[in-house]
Parts: sequence; C-alpha cells; structure tokens
Amino acid sequence: MRNIVLIGFMGCGKTTMGIKLSYKLHRIMEDTDKWIERNEGCTIREIFATKGEEAFRRIETACIKKMAEDPTVRIISTGGGLPVREENWGPLKKLGHVVYLKISPGEAYDRLKEDTERPLLQCEDPYGRICELLDKREPLYEACADTVILVDGKTVEEVLDEMLTILKEKDVI
Ligand code: S3P
Repeated sequence: MRNIVLIGFMGCGKTTMGIKLSYKLHRIMEDTDKWIERNEGCTIREIFATKGEEAFRRIETACIKKMAEDPTVRIISTGGGLPVREENWGPLKKLGHVVYLKISPGEAYDRLKEDTERPLLQCEDPYGRICELLDKREPLYEACADTVILVDGKTVEEVLDEMLTILKEKDVI
C-alpha cells in the first residue's frame, strides 16, 4: 500500500478531494499547508508576510522530506507550489502515487477570485498572476504526476469517481 499524493494549482480541489478520499478509503489525510501551520504556530499568510516566500519554500521542503520518512499510509494533499522545487520531486515520488488535478486558468480564477488567504494572489491582476504561474508550473506538475485528472466543469463527486476508477485500474487501491 502506498500513499496517494495530490498535487496541482491553487483551487484545483486537492484538500476537498483529499478529505473525500480519506473517508472513502478509510485512510488518514495530511495536508502540507496544515502541517506547516501546526508546526510553525501561524498561518501560511503570516509566514509569507513575516518571513517571505523563500522561507516558506524551505519549510515546505522540510515538510515533504519529513513526510517521506514516515511509514504511515495516508492521503497527502500538497500546497500548489510544492512541485516547483526539483528538490521536492524525490520525496513526492517516494511517498507514492502522485495525482495531478489539472485546472485551467479561467476555472482557477473563478474559484479563487474572492480568496484572501493565498498570498500569491493578493495583487492587482490575480488572473494574470494565475496565467503566469500556471504557465511555468504546468510542465512541472506533469513531470511529477503518475495520473492526471482534468477538473474543469466537473463536480467533486465526478472527480472522485474518475479518480477511484483510475486508481483501481492502476492497482493503487
Ligand atoms: C501556494 C499554494 C497554497 C499555499 C501557498 C502557496 C502556491 O496552497 O501553499 O499559499 O505557491 O501555489 P493551495 O494550493 O492549497 O492553495
């Protein structure tokens, strides 16, 4: 049995799908952002504001490395920027089966336009920022993924069913 690791851009539904999978498969769920907030004793927004993005990325790398050493089999939901650092690919792969929830910039914007928690999107032109980040990250997400699932226009239940079917076909669950 291996971990199922969810990666993808902000708003693609990693946390929601992680919770659903956790109920369905009776496995514990862990979320890298929640792990970091617990460990640091403050929110991601506060870490960005007080220590900066680079410091957050270092903490994120420490987090995924630590998770990769833990033998517990879980569902792991990751922060949207985690696959950007190549240093994180080894731990991601070591953890288990990596599922990329792929979202388009338009759908990500629709889902995140009212959001105030994601520091990277608190800017003049959040749509432009989403396009720019996705452009850079898309090939990295693809390179890390064992399975890719498109989420645009699908309900949570539809994505869950599709994921369960694929994971069964691939003998992951
Ligand atoms: C980030 C995504 C966020 C969080 C942080 C940075 C990113 O997680 O880790 O705000 O760089 O894409 P979600 O993808 O869960 O929103």
